[in-house]
Amino acid sequence: MSYTLRGFVAVYRLRSIKSRLSKGTFGFLLSVTLLLLMAGCQSATKTKTYRIGFSQCTGGDEWRKTMLHDMKRELTFHPNYTLLYEDAENSTTRQISQIQALIDQGIDLLIVSPNEVAPFAKVIEDVFKRGIPVILLDRKIETESYNAYIGGDNVEIGRLAGVFIGNHLKGKGRIVEIWGLPSSSPAQERHRGLLEELRKYPGIQVVKELNGQWERDTVGRVVAAELNTLKDVDLVFAHNDVMALGAYAVCKQKGIEKKLDFVGIDALPGPNAGMQAITDGILKASFLYPTGGEEAIETATRILAGKSVKREQVLNSIQIDGSNVRALKAQSDKLLAQQVDIEKQSQRIDALTQTYASQKNTLYITLASLIVVMLLGGWALYLFRSKQTAYRTLERQNEEIREQKDKIEAVSQQARLATEEKLRFYSYISHEFNTPLSLILTPTEDLLTKKTVSSHDLKSNLALIQKNAYRLLRLIDQMLDLRKTDAGKQRLRTVEQDLVAFIQDIVQDFKRKAEKQRIDLRFMPSKASLPVWFDEEKLDKVIVNLLSNAFKYTPKGGLIHVRLDVLDNRVCIQVEDNGEGMTPDEQAHAFDLFFSGTRPFNLSKGLGLALSMEFIQLHQGDISVKSEKDKGTTFTILLPLGKDHLAEEEMDQSGPRNTLREGAFVSPRLLVDVEEEESTLPADLTQKRSGTLLVVEDNDDIRTFLTTRLGHEFEIIAEGTGEKGWERAIDVIPDLIISDIMLPGMDGMQLTQRVKADLRTSHIPVVLLTAKGQMEQRIEGTRAGADAYITKPFNTTYLLEVLRTTLANREKWQRRYASDFLSQAGAGNRQDKKFLNELTGLIEQNLTDPDFGVEKLSRDMGLSRVQLYRKVQALLDMNVIDYVAEIRLKKARRLLTESTKTMAEIAYETGFSSPAYFTTFFKQHTQKTPSEYRKSPASA
Ligand code: FRU
Repeated sequence: MSYTLRGFVAVYRLRSIKSRLSKGTFGFLLSVTLLLLMAGCQSATKTKTYRIGFSQCTGGDEWRKTMLHDMKRELTFHPNYTLLYEDAENSTTRQISQIQALIDQGIDLLIVSPNEVAPFAKVIEDVFKRGIPVILLDRKIETESYNAYIGGDNVEIGRLAGVFIGNHLKGKGRIVEIWGLPSSSPAQERHRGLLEELRKYPGIQVVKELNGQWERDTVGRVVAAELNTLKDVDLVFAHNDVMALGAYAVCKQKGIEKKLDFVGIDALPGPNAGMQAITDGILKASFLYPTGGEEAIETATRILAGKSVKREQVLNSIQIDGSNVRALKAQSDKLLAQQVDIEKQSQRIDALTQTYASQKNTLYITLASLIVVMLLGGWALYLFRSKQTAYRTLERQNEEIREQKDKIEAVSQQARLATEEKLRFYSYISHEFNTPLSLILTPTEDLLTKKTVSSHDLKSNLALIQKNAYRLLRLIDQMLDLRKTDAGKQRLRTVEQDLVAFIQDIVQDFKRKAEKQRIDLRFMPSKASLPVWFDEEKLDKVIVNLLSNAFKYTPKGGLIHVRLDVLDNRVCIQVEDNGEGMTPDEQAHAFDLFFSGTRPFNLSKGLGLALSMEFIQLHQGDISVKSEKDKGTTFTILLPLGKDHLAEEEMDQSGPRNTLREGAFVSPRLLVDVEEEESTLPADLTQKRSGTLLVVEDNDDIRTFLTTRLGHEFEIIAEGTGEKGWERAIDVIPDLIISDIMLPGMDGMQLTQRVKADLRTSHIPVVLLTAKGQMEQRIEGTRAGADAYITKPFNTTYLLEVLRTTLANREKWQRRYASDFLSQAGAGNRQDKKFLNELTGLIEQNLTDPDFGVEKLSRDMGLSRVQLYRKVQALLDMNVIDYVAEIRLKKARRLLTESTKTMAEIAYETGFSSPAYFTTFFKQHTQKTPSEYRKSPASA
């Protein structure tokens, strides 16, 4: 099948559109998507937009409507182009002014289809000069100022018409030519082409030329006026189909249409148009005249895109007549249908474009939202981070605050401990002052209250007073030293002197004491003499302190050795004893001023050693101790030799001073001899005593004083520690215990508790001696079971009075206990009651046993015979045997009065070996025989 040119061109264009738009739904959608994306991209890259002005001479006929339609369809592929359309409605003047108006609107290119040839040259030249490209469409004008001409070859179409007419009329006939607007180029050219071709047919004659102005109405008028001419004509040739059909209509009206043939130009498809008229046999032929609308838009876009275009674009034409009209019409119809389809698709594209635009907007909004969300997320993250940083900073600050708080707490804890230590220290200072004060006041009072005093008593009391006055002096001296040390005011005043001679001198002072205590005191220097820079006052105190301690803790017959050696440019002094030694804890705190470990603070030792340490350190030296419990102790002093370590002001060049003689300081050596006197105090222990007293007191002087002073009236057993006191209490079961509260090891309170908790000793009154008169101490003591307190310093007369009263009270208790127990009433101390209950129960259980006696009873009670005897004596003021007898008698009395048992039975039940012995025993104790008692019990 062969296509006509027009059909071919149309199909080709359609295919290109289809290939762009409809290769399956996916392809289509893909294309659409790409298109939209491109559109998006273009819009994103701001694609340039263009305005095309189109000036149409007339828009009223079908051919020009088709032209506009073709243009618009082509424009759908160029969304950035806008068409500004003006219709001049066949008026040349209107068209000229419309062109100017388009220019004023700022068009980028002008397409013009001019109404006439001549009048447009000037206006188009103006447009062209302004640089606005011009495309002439379909009709020509008299100027060269244009970029492109697009249109059919009208001369050629006139020729084709001539060829058809020549052939159709077979070279002979009469014709009428109906012109289009004579001043328009297509009319002039078609006429010229027709005449050129008809010249070949001399038998054909143009009998009349009518002016149809391209319009049906005009044709109707002019044809009606020339009907007579037409009656004699074979063929009417009109310059377009519109005019040909108009002429046909007039002829038909007059009934002459069958006599002549009609030929036109344009061959438009569609109803009532040229192609349909050929099919219907109204027109014999027509010639396809393309509108050029698509080409004009395509050319315009190329020009505006800066691309080259063909200046003269002649559109081809073909003849359509009865031979090809059906095929071409079918193609045209198909084309029309496809065009409708294209338009629908174009509309769909528009709809999709809109959808895309709205989706794009949605996408943008979503993207924007996403960005906002991300920004917010970032901000939240930032806030979180900064919050975390702030949190960490806070944590760190908290930690610092906590650390500071801990430090403050530690400091306040230290301060609290220091305060406690100080309070304890003051408390012990008072205690330490109390003892010598007691030992000054008590003998003084003693001397003052006695009417006559023996010279021995006088001397011994005065010696005691003197000794304790020195002790006070020494304590005060130590306190002052301590204060100076504490205030950092201790200064060294060294002189160079022979250290061997210095120590020798001190050791010599202790010789007499050593001899008396049979102590092997030796000084063993490794050199005969050794010049050393030292502060003699301070070193004197240190060495005397060490020797005094050694004497205090070394038993009779022990050894105290003082050594002096030189080691590595240092002098080493050692004081060694084989005394009672120290525990590791005591050793570790030996030099602590306020050490209060497990045993009570000892001022003379504590202060002395703490001061010694201070003094040796002032000398840039060192002091240390090595000790083992029950083996002995060695103190080691190291002092640097030479004087390089001393400051100028610490050295006195004036030579040694005898501080002792000058009295510059109180040497502890003054006490050495005085202390010896204590053993000379008389102790008259042979006299008749009114009870046994156990004195537990660690201070030798007070112990000795109490022993001496109370020994006149009581039998005294004295011990220096709580443990030893307890052992003696169990051993002898004394009538009364006097104990100091402050004791090394087991103190007075603990001793009291132990005494009161033990069955064997619970009845013994305890009198506590204390330097502390405070109420708490008394409450504590009372809880422990103490019976009385004496506050130091005590008055001897008052003490004696307390002791006597306590013992007298005890006796009253004894009597009451005895009667209570025998009458089953029971009273008094819980321990004692328990003891008596146990004792009485045991006796009653064994009453039928004639062999039951003190031996078995003491064994069953877990006591020694002596302990049992003393306990019963103390509690009931009777001996055990008498108490057993009392219980037997008590039972016998009950059986005699409350039973009808025989004498033999009663004698047996109450543990008598025979009724005769029972009768004798009963009579001895009750002054009645059992029979007499049974008769009248009341008088017994
Ligand atoms: C339409 C028309 C067509 C003709 C053309 C010539 O207005 O008359 O029929 O072919 O113009 O310009």
